[in-house]
Order: sequence, then C-alpha cells, then structure tokens
Amino acid sequence: MIKKGIILSGGFGTRMSPLTKAVNKQLLPLYDKPLIYYPLSVLMLAGIKNILIIVNKGQLQQFKKILPEKNNLGIQIKYKEQEKPKGLPEAFIIGEKFIGEENVALILGDNFFYGQNLSKLLFECAKLKNGAKIILHGVQNPELFGVAKINKKNKKILKIIEKPKKYVSNQAITGLYFFDKKVVNYAKRLKPSKRGELEIIDLINQYKKNNRLKAEFIGRGGAWLDTGSINDYYKTSAFVQAVENRQGLKIACIEEIAFLNGWIKKKEINNQIKFYGNCEYSNYLRKLIK
Ligand code: DAU
Repeated sequence: MIKKGIILSGGFGTRMSPLTKAVNKQLLPLYDKPLIYYPLSVLMLAGIKNILIIVNKGQLQQFKKILPEKNNLGIQIKYKEQEKPKGLPEAFIIGEKFIGEENVALILGDNFFYGQNLSKLLFECAKLKNGAKIILHGVQNPELFGVAKINKKNKKILKIIEKPKKYVSNQAITGLYFFDKKVVNYAKRLKPSKRGELEIIDLINQYKKNNRLKAEFIGRGGAWLDTGSINDYYKTSAFVQAVENRQGLKIACIEEIAFLNGWIKKKEINNQIKFYGNCEYSNYLRKLIK
C-alpha cells in the first residue's frame, strides 16, 4: 500500500486575486472549511497517513496554524517550501527525502473530489506497486486540463496531452496521481517547457512510454469539480453546502475520517473541538462522538 502522499499547495492563485493576495488559495474557505481539507481528506481516505505539504515560500506559518505538524488527526504532517511555482513535478524533487525509496501519491491542493465509490477507488489506487496511475473524469471543457485519449474497448491510454487546443478527448486528467518510487528520478530528468515550467504531462509520459501507465475513472456517481476561477470556486462551495445541508453529513471532515479509520479516539476529537472553539464545525464533531 502507498503510505506517503504529497499535497502541492503553492502557486500564486492569480486567477483568484485579490482574494489570494494575502492568503494562500488553499486556505480560503470552500463553504465551511479551508480548501486544503478536501485534498487532505482524499489522501486520508486512501489510507495515507504520512503527508508532505508543499507551500509557497513565506506561507508556512499560515498553514501550520490550521494543520500543525503535531496534530490530533493521527497523521504525520511535514512541510516544505517551494521557492516559486516551477511546475507540478517539482513536488517530487522538493519531496525527494520525504519519499525515500517508497511509492507516493500526489494531489494538487486545489482539487475537489466527491463520490459514492470514491473511498473504494482510492483504496484500490493506493495498492499500486509499479508504474503510475492517473484518475480521469469526463468534462465539458477539456481544453482547460490535461486530457487522455482512451481506447473505449480495453481502456488503454492512447495519448495524453496538456490543455489541447483541438478536441482530443473529454477525459480530463485530475490532479491526483499515484507513482512508484522511480518518479523522483524521472522528475529530475525533466526539462522546463516553453512556458518555463516542469510539466506533469511530461512526467506521466515517461511512464506511458514504458507501458507503465494506467487509468482509473470517476464514473457517473462521482464528481471532480473546478476551483480554478472565482465562479467555479463558488459553484463548488454551493455544491458542498447543498450536499451537507441535505444529508447532515460533512464532506472532508478530516477528524471524522481519522476517527472512522481508527487513527484517533474521542480524546483527539475533543482536543479539536477545543482548538476550533464554539462553531458549527465543532457541533458536528460533538455529534460524532456522542
Ligand atoms: O487540476 C487538474 C489539472 O492540474 C490537470 O488536468 C493538468 O494536467 C495539470 O497541469 C494541472 O493544471 P492547472 O492549470 O490546474 O495547473 P496550475 O498551474 O493551476 O496548478 C495547479 C495547482 O498546483 C494550483 O493550486 C497551484 C499549485 N502549484 C502549481 C505549480 C505550477 C504549485 O503549488 N506549484 C507549482 O509549481
């Protein structure tokens, strides 16, 4: 099982300026909790307890306030800074020591996943031994993402391309990836693209060339939503609000996941209630341990 995961939480968030001028995008509220709770919950649902969060230079203290290294979640959190956004694969260069000789998952700090079979899918992905796995989701605006062209019959990946100008496929490559330990060396060998960044698509292509790339699909029962522009951000926020208010259950309540995974007990939840103070989120946690 993959035991380590990286959340890449840097970037300037320029598309959401001025909101992101003083605060990192991943710390902004997506309805009732900071955005970073959502990707963190995805890793936790995959059973991953050893987590590296990569943040912008100078923003460490902001993140540590809400997700301290010594926490009540039964997980290990470590931090590293990224000097400036030089591309997604840099996560593996910055995270080399953290990764060591193990397989690793990467999730982008602004990615939102939700769905009935999500936990099952994540758990399956975390079983990866060799190669790499990408998670695909059908979208109406594939030109905004990395996409994969798939052979419909055998689900083989025929081609992957970053933000295609011409239509290739509607299957977007989501910001959640599972890699074997070779990823660090592959990342180190990459050259910056024309826009001056290391490209995740080039990294994934290394695995594809070696016939080591597989895909999983988020089907109709699942959702991968945008948090890119301000409009998308609020639409996703409204989605969370609608689902949570309808069901009375929270999406991405990290304490609940840790509790259900058996990683923490009532004591840690009570510590978190004290930490959050008197708020609706704490009321939810109280109900959880009643
Ligand atoms: O969200 C999925 C998409 O993410 C994929 O379909 C694309 O293949 C992939 O390239 C990426 O596209 P984006 O255009 O969304 O990437 P962006 O540069 O916006 O970065 C995504 C997140 O990662 C964002 O929260 C900022 C953060 N980031 C980005 C870079 C380049 C960093 O923390 N460091 C970086 O160096």
